[in-house]
Amino acid sequence: MSELVCITGATGNLGKSVARMFLHRGCRVLLQSRSQQRLDALVQQLQSSCGCDAHICAIVADVTTEEGRLKLARVCSALSGTDRVALVHLVGEFPRNAEFSQLQSHELTRIVHINALSGINTTRILASQIPLHSVVLFASIGAHIHLQHRPHYRLSKMLVKDAASVLSRELAPNIRVNSVSPGAIFVDSPPAGAPPETRIPLARYGKGNDIAEAVWFLTKQATYVTGQDLVVDGGLSL
Ligand SMILES: NC(=O)c1ccc[n+]([C@@H]2O[C@H](COP(=O)([O-])OP(=O)(O)OC[C@H]3O[C@@H](n4cnc5c(N)ncnc54)[C@H](OP(=O)(O)O)[C@@H]3O)[C@@H](O)[C@H]2O)c1
Repeated sequence: MSELVCITGATGNLGKSVARMFLHRGCRVLLQSRSQQRLDALVQQLQSSCGCDAHICAIVADVTTEEGRLKLARVCSALSGTDRVALVHLVGEFPRNAEFSQLQSHELTRIVHINALSGINTTRILASQIPLHSVVLFASIGAHIHLQHRPHYRLSKMLVKDAASVLSRELAPNIRVNSVSPGAIFVDSPPAGAPPETRIPLARYGKGNDIAEAVWFLTKQATYVTGQDLVVDGGLSL
């Protein structure tokens, strides 16, 4: 049986590109979302572009809760048997503009919970219950450069980047843990307020495929890389 790749936050912009790439390259995917409707739409899209429905499974769960993570682990375990599993954790939220002084403590807690702790805890549960071999978490360019008006987002993504390093020590040698820090990536046209392309050394916005290639590299090819953050931003953070 081909390798199972569990993709959490799969219905988002980048999740679709990552799922498509792994399917095209012969893996099985397990897609997670909180919404049956969004999952159905995604499965349909992937089936029509990849023509390989036998390789797609989907699960409705909220991996920001322990109940949701345990459900995911049960399904992963049933699907993988003794085969190795990779986790790509894309769950994340881009919060409203606010300075620290304007933030309520529950807003800060919430964004750290969704953006950082969901991935750390999903890794913890899957690592203890299934034959996991690779984890890719999602940080951000915001963990590397100053992001105006979103200190809470920045903090949450700095935590993700450092979590990959901390987890990788504990889970070695069987499981590699890395993170990806995307820059300005747009699957469709860029929204108002996006940084001008002239500010990006490689002179274009990133595409979903640019991120999917980085995830593929970390999951399938970089077998001697662990605890690292891979910045995929066309040089924007330089
Ligand atoms: N796109 C970029 O340019 C960029 C740049 C830097 C970093 N990133 C990071 O890369 C990852 C993927 O980005 P994306 O653009 O694909 O994001 P996205 O389109 O917003 O999708 C993120 C997914 O996370 C899930 N999610 C969102 N809020 C949640 C919540 N409160 N509780 C549980 N699940 C929630 C959603 O799944 P359901 O609603 O279906 O459950 C959603 O499909 C994120 O971690 C993001 O921060 C992206």
